[in-house]
Amino acid sequence: MIKVNENFGKVQDSYLFSTIAKKVAEYQKNNPDKKIIKLGIGDVTRPLPTPCIEAMKKASDEMGDANTFKGYGPEQGYDFLRKAIIENEYKDLGIDIDEVFVSDGAKCDTGNIVDLFSQDNKVAILDPVYPVYLDTNVLSGRSGKFNNGKYDGIVYMPTTEENNFIPELPKEKVDMIYLCFPNNPTGTTLSKEELKKWVDYARENKSIILFDSAYEGFIVDENIPHSIYEIEGAKDVAIEFKSFSKKAGFTGIRCAYTIVPKSLVAYDNDGNTYKLNSLWNRRQTTKFNGVSYVVQRAAEAVYTPEGQKEIEENINYYRENAKIILEGLKNINIKTYGGVNSPYIWLKVPEGKTSWEFFDELLEKANVVGTPGAGFGPSGEGYFRLTAFGTHENTIEAMKRIESIF
Ligand code: MLT
Repeated sequence: MIKVNENFGKVQDSYLFSTIAKKVAEYQKNNPDKKIIKLGIGDVTRPLPTPCIEAMKKASDEMGDANTFKGYGPEQGYDFLRKAIIENEYKDLGIDIDEVFVSDGAKCDTGNIVDLFSQDNKVAILDPVYPVYLDTNVLSGRSGKFNNGKYDGIVYMPTTEENNFIPELPKEKVDMIYLCFPNNPTGTTLSKEELKKWVDYARENKSIILFDSAYEGFIVDENIPHSIYEIEGAKDVAIEFKSFSKKAGFTGIRCAYTIVPKSLVAYDNDGNTYKLNSLWNRRQTTKFNGVSYVVQRAAEAVYTPEGQKEIEENINYYRENAKIILEGLKNINIKTYGGVNSPYIWLKVPEGKTSWEFFDELLEKANVVGTPGAGFGPSGEGYFRLTAFGTHENTIEAMKRIESIF
């Protein structure tokens, strides 16, 4: 008899963004003339930079010519892209790194990385949190049951206005620590000094930090690290996930990368060490066949001068949207966080409403979709997330509608 992975019985029915998409589709079906504006999932709206398009066209032509055709590529990514990443993302920061694994998304990598770790590791997540870190650990058996809004066995580290969105170090010893900065969903950041505390904790406790840096391209303030490896000692304790999705508009074509330093180890029960770089390589070569050549050429083109210029213009476009949202919410006395070094605006839901009630109200009265804070964890209750990734026209219109109902 085929047996099911019973962890599917523990995890919440539906993935947060699928639940929202379903609710919105239902509302649209019942209200076909309403023009819904979606500021929920963080999906980009600016088209790809011109050099990426040109690079894809050229690469497609190469695929149509027997002399330049490419079959399976290296699972870790083509050298041309790995080199471009090292040069442009790390060398400029003074970071000496060459352990790059190209992939089809930071979501996939942050989810798949759990393959490397024993089931009895203690997992710590920020609360609220990007649901992938939590759900993938639940599905792979690193939690107990869902109980009063939380999974038993998982350490939740609240990040709320009470602690200024700076999580405290866990009181108990934890093994796998998920950090995402600039943060999804709160849009807040950690200074180098604050991040250093986490690196020091991980070094003392032989833990691993899984650092999601997908929103790094939005950083404007100087003291905010663009990579965890700017922090001394981080190469011994941290895996970093970065993505072309939000920075360069690759949500549809898919390309990201993960750094697994060769100095990183995990231990077995006898204290023997295993190099995580070799394990991740083993995992990827077994389960992944690499990102398509055409897409990797597009990613390489991100680093051309014209590519960089267009990316900056697009990020500035989203920054402008964030300003419009922050301004609009200020006009109606709604408290906001984030939205400066991040495309996400985290707002305080007006007194007396839950975040899902606020979601319904915005959908029904303003026909605007956002993401309820409670969907990101119990400490997200009372908050709500809007994204700056919409078009200017939609963002302006959405804020007009929201202001008019308050
Ligand atoms: C989000 O809206 O939180 C992100 O777009 C989800 C993702 O990157 O998978």
